[in-house]
Amino acid sequence: MNQRTARVSAASLPTPDQIADSWLARYRDLVDDWDAFAEALGRPLPVALWANPARISVEALTELLVEQGLSPQPIQGLPNALNLPPDFRAGQQWWYCVGLAHAQEAVSQLPVTLMDLEPGQRVLDMCAAPGGKTAQIAFALDNRGTVVANDISYGRIKALQGNLDRLGVLNVTTTQSDASNWPTAGGQFDRILLDAPCSSEGTIRRNPSLLQRHDPAGSERLGPRQRALLRKAVQRCRPGGLILYSTCTFAPEENELVVADILAEFDGKIRLRTIDIPGFDTALGVTEWLGRTLPPELARCRRLWPHRNDTGGFFIALLEKDANLPAEPEPELATLAESEHDEWLDGLLSKYGLPDDYWSRYRINRQTKRGLHLMAADHAPPAVPPAEGRGIFFHRTNVRPPKPTTSGALLIGPDVTRFRLELSREQRDAYLRRETFAPTPEQLAANPPGQVIASYRGHVLGIAILHRSGVIESQFPSRWSGRASGTD
Ligand SMILES: C[S@@+](CC[C@H](N)C(=O)[O-])C[C@H]1O[C@@H](n2cnc3c(N)ncnc32)[C@H](O)[C@@H]1O
Repeated sequence: MNQRTARVSAASLPTPDQIADSWLARYRDLVDDWDAFAEALGRPLPVALWANPARISVEALTELLVEQGLSPQPIQGLPNALNLPPDFRAGQQWWYCVGLAHAQEAVSQLPVTLMDLEPGQRVLDMCAAPGGKTAQIAFALDNRGTVVANDISYGRIKALQGNLDRLGVLNVTTTQSDASNWPTAGGQFDRILLDAPCSSEGTIRRNPSLLQRHDPAGSERLGPRQRALLRKAVQRCRPGGLILYSTCTFAPEENELVVADILAEFDGKIRLRTIDIPGFDTALGVTEWLGRTLPPELARCRRLWPHRNDTGGFFIALLEKDANLPAEPEPELATLAESEHDEWLDGLLSKYGLPDDYWSRYRINRQTKRGLHLMAADHAPPAVPPAEGRGIFFHRTNVRPPKPTTSGALLIGPDVTRFRLELSREQRDAYLRRETFAPTPEQLAANPPGQVIASYRGHVLGIAILHRSGVIESQFPSRWSGRASGTD
């Protein structure tokens, strides 16, 4: 399989003259070095990814990539992340399909690193899909406690849940709502991320057609929506808490102007924190735009121009709510019918040789007729708004025999003491392509027929069935595998 097919062909990227003749010219006076800016927008963007801290160190991921003949480059300021060439197809790699890493633009990884996150905090991600930042937040909280990830789009929440399942995120409840109407009864949060819907001008290196189809007047139209969302973020933040507002656009109408209006509206109840982003060359927030002068503290916002760090464009503002304001009462928490003593769980313990108290480290419940969901033991989401999902769907009990899902296998796999089948490289590729393949005589001799947990070089891949007839059947889900190629 060709893993090096270009996603954005170099020919489709704009020339400096095309940039100069486009709507981007409105930013000429904001950019420190116009020629470098225009030249950077004509270059494809490196592929950035981060190592899943629950599964692999960045050093071990680097080794895997080097063995594959790649030259991953560290990213200054993001110790858990690596850069790969622009045409690298991360989603096709075996290690990606089984959740060892997640692809996310370098600048897009920054907001979460600035939120002063610690285990024990309650966090709301208001516009969360497809969930790269949600997963970063989840791991910054050590995959424990409570994150609520909301998005207005049902389809995008499904994509978000797919990412959380693949990465093994256990502390997230997802909700579908217009975040500007987030209910007061949902309580207040220690940290709120508002990665706002925006005109995405800063993604032009990935989406060159924006040059033709974007109309900067759209920024004016987005402003009211962004203000409504930021207003709600301030209301739902607890006193002393932090709100991070970010966009991937250049337009001050969607950035500093939005923040300035909300600062004025809450008059002294929130203030902008100065942001320091080690390893990144950033520009100050804009304080003059099209005849409007903003308060000088707007310079505390940070702009990431593409030419300064070879990235996409981004905007970040960090707001702190006055700690002396009265706090709201704690919200009512969701009641979950717990299922730790479910017969199916006992079945899993005995089959896979897990310790008797194994499930006490999780909160487990039946959210659908299909089977059981599993969450961090201390996950305590609010009762409202109603959840789309909580934790990960990990054990399918509506099939005979019941079986762990792939996300369930990835989770318990490292702890099982029986029925684990180590695959060769060729078997791994067949497994991820959902093919049926032959076991070696040794594999056949060491395992009775039935369900096993397949692994490759110690990394769990998912569930397989070893048939009496002497074949191994892959149970890897098609929506996870589809594009997995034989790489390594
Ligand atoms: C920039 S994207 C978020 C990216 C995401 N934070 C990530 O890192 O993967 C903006 C998201 O806002 C969602 N959205 C738009 N309007 C919304 C609203 N009123 N309430 C909640 N979500 C909204 C969109 O569906 C979209 O998924």
